Amino acid sequence: MEAAKPMFAHRIAERMQGCGTEGAFVVLAEARKLEAEGREIVHLQIGEPDFDTPRNIIDRAHWALDNGWTHYSPSAGILEMRERYAEFVCKQYGVSGISGKNIVIMPGAKPICFLTGLALIDPGDEVILFDPTYPAYDAAIHLTGGIAKRLPLKEETGFRFDHDELAALVSDKTKLFFLNSPQNPTGGVLTREDLEYIAELARRHNFYVFSDEIYNRFVYEGDHASILHVPDFLDHTIMLDGHSKTYAMTGWRLGFSVSSEEMVKHLTVLMTNANSCTSSFTQIAGEEALLGDQSGAEEIIARFKMRRSIIVDGLNSIPGVSCAMPAGAFYAFPNVKEYTIKQDRTSQQLQRLLLHEYGVACLAGTCFGPMGEGYLRFSYANSKENIEKGLERLREAFSRLA
Ligand SMILES: Cc1ncc(COP(=O)(O)O)c(C=O)c1O
Repeated sequence: MEAAKPMFAHRIAERMQGCGTEGAFVVLAEARKLEAEGREIVHLQIGEPDFDTPRNIIDRAHWALDNGWTHYSPSAGILEMRERYAEFVCKQYGVSGISGKNIVIMPGAKPICFLTGLALIDPGDEVILFDPTYPAYDAAIHLTGGIAKRLPLKEETGFRFDHDELAALVSDKTKLFFLNSPQNPTGGVLTREDLEYIAELARRHNFYVFSDEIYNRFVYEGDHASILHVPDFLDHTIMLDGHSKTYAMTGWRLGFSVSSEEMVKHLTVLMTNANSCTSSFTQIAGEEALLGDQSGAEEIIARFKMRRSIIVDGLNSIPGVSCAMPAGAFYAFPNVKEYTIKQDRTSQQLQRLLLHEYGVACLAGTCFGPMGEGYLRFSYANSKENIEKGLERLREAFSRLA
């Protein structure tokens, strides 16, 4: 008889204990499994535009592949591309003084969160972040041994933060503030005054501000306020932008950071070690996205604005559900406390029930932090028809749960 093979005792690093993940990808996998079993699911969980990437961007990628852009590039990005992305930033925000030396091009926007965390957070450093918030910041803090200090975003104040609450969180151990506007998951936006206030605190207490502005074009009333509008603040700033949302380029993996040259130096070292570089032809197509014909992006943004009204009005027409009109991004974040807290059910349980019993994939507010209890997040990056079908199913679900 063959001797039994000894069991391998895994020795995974301790830092992996308690490292969270992103609910959107977990629910997407669960929904796909149900689909493989023959179920029909309405996908309102993931922040992925349902449009194809605009034709001019695809054509530019073809051109780049045909013209030899198939090799490694410098780790921070192709020099000319960094200059061109900087040109876009200056044009987009009406600012000057940003050049290619301030840009690092990365394979997606998400790595910018993690690499910034690696570059800045020492064990024991305090890092402020909103609650609810995009989960990648939490993971970056956890994996680097930082201490998360959560700043609540409350429905009563339009999901904007309280200035005094922020001031009370700042200490001499504060190293970094991960902020995001327009915000995932609440759709809230920060004002220029909010950013000036944060910058003033950052100057006084010597911390960095990571400003995730990936939804900058999805601001439905008024103009986007960027951290780059704060004068003389680049030394404190790491600004994130990316192509995934505005140009429906999620699968291309392309994003870029804007920061001081000192910060660029460290992000570049990390890029070399983690990725070598971003795919060259993708960087070239990304330039066309930013500086070429914008009609594709404008179409996406206009459609999302229309869908926002459909989903928010639809949710508000369901008894016991109330949804504030989000000012930006493409998420609705309704209060469903009548069906969670008041019925002794968690948002996670409600999320599961809606998926498994009613075929609607959405996310519990707690995928974004404890303050999300009593809320759900619906992405309206799906067609009008699918949003309407989802609302129909939700109406039925909530009428049965009432
Ligand atoms: C706030 C925020 N930042 C960054 C990202 C990551 O974008 P990418 O897919 O380009 O990595 C997302 C994606 O959902 C997001 O919501």
